Amino acid sequence: MRAGSTADQIEIDVRLTGADGAQMAREVRLGLTGKPKELAPKYFYDERGSQLFERITELPEYYPTRAERAILADCSAEILAAAGEPATLVELGSGSAAKTRHLLSAMQEAGCLRTYVPVDISEEITHETAEALVQEYPGLEVRGLVCDFEHDLERIPNGGGGRLVAFLGGTIGTLSPDARREFLARLAALMGPADRILLGTDLVKEPARLEAAYDDSEGVTAEFNRNVLLVLNRELDADFDPDAFEHVARYDSAEARMDIRLRSLADQTVRVDALDLTVRFLAGEEMRTEISSKFTRERLEDVYAEAGLALGGWFTDPAGDYALSLASV
Ligand code: TRP
Repeated sequence: MRAGSTADQIEIDVRLTGADGAQMAREVRLGLTGKPKELAPKYFYDERGSQLFERITELPEYYPTRAERAILADCSAEILAAAGEPATLVELGSGSAAKTRHLLSAMQEAGCLRTYVPVDISEEITHETAEALVQEYPGLEVRGLVCDFEHDLERIPNGGGGRLVAFLGGTIGTLSPDARREFLARLAALMGPADRILLGTDLVKEPARLEAAYDDSEGVTAEFNRNVLLVLNRELDADFDPDAFEHVARYDSAEARMDIRLRSLADQTVRVDALDLTVRFLAGEEMRTEISSKFTRERLEDVYAEAGLALGGWFTDPAGDYALSLASV
């Protein structure tokens, strides 16, 4: 192939500051010295954590990934039509863009596809995905953005012809109500009248099914949860013994969310050298590692309204377990 023949179609803006280590140190210190103790879920996803999460998505108990994929496989054309046939697909947390191909193909078939904007924290995967997609979708322009989108949302390119901003995987559910409102309001501030958000959310259902989805019989989820301790051991020179903590996954029906924690099995002291910090855990003490909110259509309408957005489309899998919704300013 002639040099530059597809490279012309790819442009990737890398906005990693290199200050990520300092930020991690700050956040982990706050989390381990707070009451109750807490860790941010983004630290789950080192290489081993990402592999364990892949395995979670294939577990019989963990339905959300399959349900979301089914909606995209069945409804992408309808979603695109309801979104006004946008020329640009922006994807927050794009990764390998596995699910996104349904949307890109529907855009191609509708004849509206011009630009794909993957936004991801990993530079490597963003480059690989861009290369693969320009081969698969001739003429596609890729304008990638490598950043922590909690900080650099404002750098998303402003394509003409309407943008569909997809935020899939139910990740919005991991934000606290305040952080969620702030995030959606910032997104709303970037949107023009022709732009739409496409948001993936898990839905409220029987607690037993929810709890099983976050505490599988093979113990993969427990392993995934404890993996965050190994990340701290490596990144911050800590000496957590993962076997001294057990995985806890409870549905909190008052808050309509899964509450995921690590419970200390004994009185113990953990040293975090990089923070020059000694942390005491009591036997039975729980440290939150993630919340995962579950929604109803009514509740999501309120969530959107608080951020100045209006729900304009609702797509679920046949079982009604999971929803993709469209929203506009
Ligand atoms: N945020 C995802 C979810 O809510 C990831 C996830 C699945 C997860 N299982 C987990 C996070 C267990 C922590 C622990 O579905």
